[in-house]
Amino acid sequence: MGSLGEKILVVDDNAEFIDFIRRFLESKGFQVSIALNGKTAIEKTLSDIPELILLDLKLPDMPGEEVLKSIKEINKDIAIVVITGFGGEQVAVDMMRKGATDFLSKPIDHQVLLSSIKNALEIRDAQIEDGRFDRYPSLEKFFPFLAHEIRNPLHAISGALAIIQRRSDLKDELLSQSIKIISEEVNHLNEFVQECLNFVRPPNMVRIAAVETNEVISVVMNIISHMFELESKKIRIVTDMNPNLPKIYVNYEEIKQAFLNIVKNAFEAMPEGGQFTIRTRHKSDSPKCIEITFIDNGIGIKKENLGKLSNPFFTTKLRGTGLGLAICHRIINERHGGRIYIESEENKGTTIKVELPVGRPLGEVSGVK
Ligand SMILES: Nc1ncnc2c1ncn2[C@@H]1O[C@H](COP(=O)(O)OP(=O)(O)OP(=O)(O)O)[C@@H](O)[C@H]1O
Ligand SMILES: [Mg+2]
Repeated sequence: MGSLGEKILVVDDNAEFIDFIRRFLESKGFQVSIALNGKTAIEKTLSDIPELILLDLKLPDMPGEEVLKSIKEINKDIAIVVITGFGGEQVAVDMMRKGATDFLSKPIDHQVLLSSIKNALEIRDAQIEDGRFDRYPSLEKFFPFLAHEIRNPLHAISGALAIIQRRSDLKDELLSQSIKIISEEVNHLNEFVQECLNFVRPPNMVRIAAVETNEVISVVMNIISHMFELESKKIRIVTDMNPNLPKIYVNYEEIKQAFLNIVKNAFEAMPEGGQFTIRTRHKSDSPKCIEITFIDNGIGIKKENLGKLSNPFFTTKLRGTGLGLAICHRIINERHGGRIYIESEENKGTTIKVELPVGRPLGEVSGVK
């Protein structure tokens, strides 16, 4: 956090407050600059665009709302966190509709400030990434548009929910359950949007590195054990890993995502428990390939569905997006020259074999993971 020295402009006319914020943010590795009024804030934004602006809505020379509008006109990618005095939350929610990412009420707690900045910078990065897809046709164009349209209201909902949470009596069981439902559904939509974007992420963003397959699998299993905390107690996990596999030259994050989607499906297919096996091997007839096999003894797949699995949106689950295997297909087959084989029998279980070439691709190699 702050390790890249992101630039933050603090806009506030209270010298004591500015001093507190500056010292704290600098200690976290950010580059901090200051504007004591709206006019200076706009000038500073024009001359040296910051990644994030902490904007007090009460400024001596102009309304914070106007400053926000001007900043967004200069560069819509700047993250803006609005700061209000006590009781200014109504205005702040309105500001979020106009492009602010979050708001904080004075007095501000260090940790709340830091997590708000971190979150705003992450959202900013995601939005910049959404914007990069403009030149891609059909789904490639539609998904980022959809992501943008859904993410903005979701941020507003999250912000409004945070207020409700702060102001509510959470001992009221029904109320706290309702808040939990809203928050879970917002997360679900956020994940859906992310999956849509993963599906269309263009190949030119692929970063290749030398990766240990067994290591990726242990990271994936660790993530899964958190995702399926209860279920994993009923699922026996058998690993059969070849310790002498060569490194593969792949995009680590993408391969991790593909394996995660496969393992997640396997766990979802065993709601009553079962056995899950992962095996890594050299491909027997081709030393230039490795094989990763995922075997579950869950509900299996109907014969008539086997041909539809990698179609985007094919799902038999109530809350599925049907993008998991479509993303795997893109990542493994289209971007890494590998193959996925699926065998399954209803009520017996499913075996998914992934083949990946070992060879160093022609593309750029960015380092060793
Ligand atoms: N291991 C498995 N066992 C049984 N069915 C599976 C398995 N893997 C995939 N499927 C079937 O393939 C369908 C498509 O899987 P995919 O991962 O693409 O989407 P999903 O799991 O339905 O949704 P999401 O992955 O977005 O949560 C699933 O709905 C399920 O019917
Ligand atoms: Mg899935």
